[in-house]
Amino acid sequence: MALVGQHVLSIDQFKRAQLESLLEVGAMVEPIAQRKMRCNVLSGAVMANLFFEASTRTRLSFHTAFARLGGSVSDTTGFTFSSISKGESLRDTARVIAGYADAIVMRHPDIGSVAEFARGILVPIINAGDGAGEHPTQALLDYYTIYKEFSRLGKKIDGMSIAMVGDLKHGRTIHSLCKLLQCFENIRFHLVCPDNLRLPKVLIERLKQAGHRVYEYDNLQQGLAGADVIYATRIQKERFANPQEEDMSYGESLRIHRDSVARYGEKEVVIMHPLPRDSREGAFDLSEDLDELSQLAIFRQADNGVTMRMALFACVLGVENQLTRYLTPNRLFVPTRYSEYDAPFYRFDG
Ligand code: NCD
Repeated sequence: MALVGQHVLSIDQFKRAQLESLLEVGAMVEPIAQRKMRCNVLSGAVMANLFFEASTRTRLSFHTAFARLGGSVSDTTGFTFSSISKGESLRDTARVIAGYADAIVMRHPDIGSVAEFARGILVPIINAGDGAGEHPTQALLDYYTIYKEFSRLGKKIDGMSIAMVGDLKHGRTIHSLCKLLQCFENIRFHLVCPDNLRLPKVLIERLKQAGHRVYEYDNLQQGLAGADVIYATRIQKERFANPQEEDMSYGESLRIHRDSVARYGEKEVVIMHPLPRDSREGAFDLSEDLDELSQLAIFRQADNGVTMRMALFACVLGVENQLTRYLTPNRLFVPTRYSEYDAPFYRFDG
């Protein structure tokens, strides 16, 4: 695939055909992510995992993905333990780490910082989130999740309807997913949020220009109607310029819970969320009363992060065609589901 040696900075760099090839590589590596098989195609390779902003699943799933392909990972977390706190420029740090690692993954609080880090560096660099900018690998795993859930339901991405709910202004996962879905045809976007958290106009215009239909709502009744996918997001208070002011208009009325899905949603609607879900009182994020619904895909979605990040590493390091030669069966104990709460259809052979 044309991805070998490339940086992955924005979802804009992917064409539809490339996204579809990545799905195929994803399907190939999934048995490794699900621990049915072992693989050491990246044996001897080192990935530098640089996280300058909070993360649990993105950091660990990148690490897991590289390790499950046989590579090892070198980590740094936060500014405190990095020489950036001594005044080192991103450029110097990047050049130094390029001398140590075969691939670099980076998350940073500033928009454009990962692209700046990647400038002039020839080792592949993957953007794991640059402030409120983009989160391309989350979009890839969201795409894989929609594809898989739809395969079970006999649905197609072209022509689908997606309700995006929550903080559409600051949510980088939303921004990247919109850009990814733009490559498909005739999608209906239901944007559901309070007035102060609307999707940036430039993104709305892009979607319309690409022939999609975009509707903006401030209530779930209209927003969820007819949607094939609900994509809920956390309110990103840490990115608010003025937390008190901006937070005022989000409340219980936009919180998705079992009752709102039953009343306004389609029977088979797939419910997604990039996680973390804010479960504190008054946070009004996706309700935990949805957890027993089989269409709640949020944990399958998080699991898919390992699969798609493995697929991406295989492609940027140019070994996607060699995977099968390096596979061996897994001899260790593996459960058929990860938790007793996982929906019954979530079996590894499904
Ligand atoms: C998101 C992020 O960091 O942008 N989480 C993730 O990577 N899965 C969403 C969020 O923080 O709300």
